Amino acid sequence: MAILVTGGAGYIGSHLCLELLNAGYEVVVVDNNSTSSSDALKRVQEITRKSVTVYTVDLGKKEDLLDVFSNHTISSVIHLAGYKSVSESSSIPLTYYANNIMSTLILCEVMQMFNVKSLVFSSSATVYAPTEKNEPISESHPLGAINPYGHTKQVIEEILRYLFYSDPSWSICMLRYFNPVGAHDSGQIGENPKGIPNNLVPYITNVAAGLLPALSIYGNDYPTRDGTGIRDYIHVVDLAQGHISALKKVETTTGINAYNLGTGKGYSVLEMVRSFQNVSGREIPYIIAPRRKGDIAVSFADVTKAKEELGWEAKRGIDAMCMDAWRWQRANPSNSALV
Ligand code: UFG
Repeated sequence: MAILVTGGAGYIGSHLCLELLNAGYEVVVVDNNSTSSSDALKRVQEITRKSVTVYTVDLGKKEDLLDVFSNHTISSVIHLAGYKSVSESSSIPLTYYANNIMSTLILCEVMQMFNVKSLVFSSSATVYAPTEKNEPISESHPLGAINPYGHTKQVIEEILRYLFYSDPSWSICMLRYFNPVGAHDSGQIGENPKGIPNNLVPYITNVAAGLLPALSIYGNDYPTRDGTGIRDYIHVVDLAQGHISALKKVETTTGINAYNLGTGKGYSVLEMVRSFQNVSGREIPYIIAPRRKGDIAVSFADVTKAKEELGWEAKRGIDAMCMDAWRWQRANPSNSALV
């Protein structure tokens, strides 16, 4: 029996495959390598000394997926594949809707054909309606994504709910990630954004490595303790382990549930910069820039439900997140748009 991981060659996928292999699972990956490369999974196999079966195919091609399900006995699916850039989704929304939603429909259809009905789905905290309140966001917070990327996740969550209502033998966990950062402590796998990074931590590591001159901090006039935006950063290895807890749940019960995966603690941009400087010993030059369109002041998770129902909680703090992100950057100096 194998676990199928869609998007398994990506940033979160590669860390997840590593944890699955270490936990003794047989792993099959489907990835079209549109935003990833096969190197990450080669490294995962070197680190774990275990092998992964990889299919470089597109989830949009049903025949290819039928082959995968015919070739392996799949017990559960962890569905990570999808386009994931908030900014890009605003420029090409139809591409995002077509890709993220169609691939999920095809996947679920094929799962149903093979009577595989346990699914862990990679959702996002961007499904939540923005709030002005400085309070943790629980799973019952109203949904209301404000960008096409987040909306594709919200729509997929709704599709999965109706799928479950039509056939309650499905078992589905939808994981709403907050801000995944960091890397495996081997320094061998990590985030490798194409182009100049959009996200805070990869941008900081590029500045620390001298590949970019300075960080732009998008706004210091938010109603937060130091004026900069607050987010719930979660170490990618904790995030990967959260999927394994969710997998155990879908393998043993039916139902549909959403869970926040975060630490429950919010850190500001300036706090992240300071922590990074402390652990790396590098100065991070920064300028204060205008607010970035679409950003909110504060977002951090209420993590009670995941703790109570999945028995999972994040263990790694921001120093480990920054340290591991920096180790990955130093071990892989070409992780930049500029090289
Ligand atoms: N920031 C800067 N400068 C930068 C980049 C970011 O100041 O160069 C700030 C942002 O304004 C924000 C914080 O750092 O306050 C975090 O920004 P990120 O771009 O790292 O992350 P976001 O919270 O905007 O979005 C991330 C992912 C989304 C995901 C979301 C979930 O990019 O895919 O978290 O809440 F959906």
